[in-house]
Amino acid sequence: MSGSGEVQPPGTTAVPGDSVVPAASAKHKPNVVLGVGGGIAAYKVCDLLRRLTESGHSVRVVPTAAALEFVGAATWAALSGQPVTADPFDHVEEVPHVRIGKAAELVVVAPATANLIAKAAHGLADDLLTNTLLTARCPILFAAAMHTEMWEHPATQANVAVLRSRGITVLDPAVGRLTGADTGRGRLPEPSEIFAITQLMLADEAARAAGQSVADLTGKHVLVSAGGTREHLDPVRYLGNSSSGKQGYALARIAAARGAKVTLVAANSELPDPAGVQVVPVVSTRDLYDEITGRAADADAIVMAAAPADFRPADFAEHKIKKTADGAVPAVNLIQTPDILKTVSHDRARPGQVIVGFAAETGDAEHTVLELGRAKLERKGCDLLVINDVSGGKVFGSDVNEAVIIDRNGTALPFPSGSKDALAGVIWNLVATHWH
Ligand SMILES: Cc1cc2nc3c(=O)[nH]c(=O)nc-3n(C[C@H](O)[C@H](O)[C@H](O)COP(=O)(O)O)c2cc1C
Repeated sequence: MSGSGEVQPPGTTAVPGDSVVPAASAKHKPNVVLGVGGGIAAYKVCDLLRRLTESGHSVRVVPTAAALEFVGAATWAALSGQPVTADPFDHVEEVPHVRIGKAAELVVVAPATANLIAKAAHGLADDLLTNTLLTARCPILFAAAMHTEMWEHPATQANVAVLRSRGITVLDPAVGRLTGADTGRGRLPEPSEIFAITQLMLADEAARAAGQSVADLTGKHVLVSAGGTREHLDPVRYLGNSSSGKQGYALARIAAARGAKVTLVAANSELPDPAGVQVVPVVSTRDLYDEITGRAADADAIVMAAAPADFRPADFAEHKIKKTADGAVPAVNLIQTPDILKTVSHDRARPGQVIVGFAAETGDAEHTVLELGRAKLERKGCDLLVINDVSGGKVFGSDVNEAVIIDRNGTALPFPSGSKDALAGVIWNLVATHWH
């Protein structure tokens, strides 16, 4: 699908696969310390531990005494294959309160309780984990989880700000069901999301060590759409599409990991909320239109990875449409939905705003996928268009993507095949070049 005038985005290597957000060395998987705090979500961290060990990391679990009230040392030892204690006076001859932190190449604290955040912010060292946090000189990630009141308390917020000012990554808790019957901000982000952030942090660290620069999105607010819209015919039936939302979620996750403030408008996706991202759920193309146009003025970039419907049923039946005895089939009249990409591209809500569209094309008898994409970029007026060849069911629901990214100058950057995270990295690199 490559066209003429191909360009290489700044900060990327020849084949824009996983190397675009540079991967940690294939030979050496960094040593991870997994600090576990005394929160109800400690059990979920077994899944995070599994993901880390199965991807090849050596993981030393360091729970707090309170954490061991929730999940016992035997579970951590069996899953990690390493000794487990909360006490710095166990095996003193090995000086664990210094050695573990110094050997760590990444420390992840999950769940990071209000107490642990406070102790780390003040430099206390009264157990093995807090000693380790003071001796570690590697990237540190805190995944916070606690009741909303504890999280919102000015003391906790001040402590989080202190940790962040020291370069520690603190993931805000996710919104959802909490320990009791209540709901709010406080849940541990999903282990799959915490794992994804660990891999991005390690890739970022490897890039820094290799002297490569990873574009910095700090200070930018980006608006991303994901998923497939549903246009209801009646309360139970709808016209929909096969978009899983994975590419939009990857864009949101990567932007957040690179420091951006991210709002993700998500249409009917089953995926877990990406850590640190504000997720706004929507159903129909009209809902998506309202949320995107309503938020556009605050956005430095808008990336429309969702698959909205072009048409919707003209009428909505209040009650489920029934079969009739005479076998008559109801006619469904369709009308056009609002064109979100065209609207935000033509009515730019903010100077310097970068707008990225997606095109899922199958090509036809007269036109290639690339030709159809170029015509769409012209019609819509966006700055970049990511063209996916979806013939034969490719792309939808998959974890890998294959695309060509074109811009208004007619240049075309092929992305031959790679993870959706890697494609997201390339897209943000290109968006960042428009800002600079
Ligand atoms: C059932 C239960 C659930 C708790 N969940 C949390 C939690 O999710 N987050 C939190 O900050 N504290 C939570 N706590 C309070 C902590 O266990 C307590 O503050 C403890 O001192 C934390 O110790 P640590 O930070 O050393 O692990 C919970 C306590 C209980 C009894």
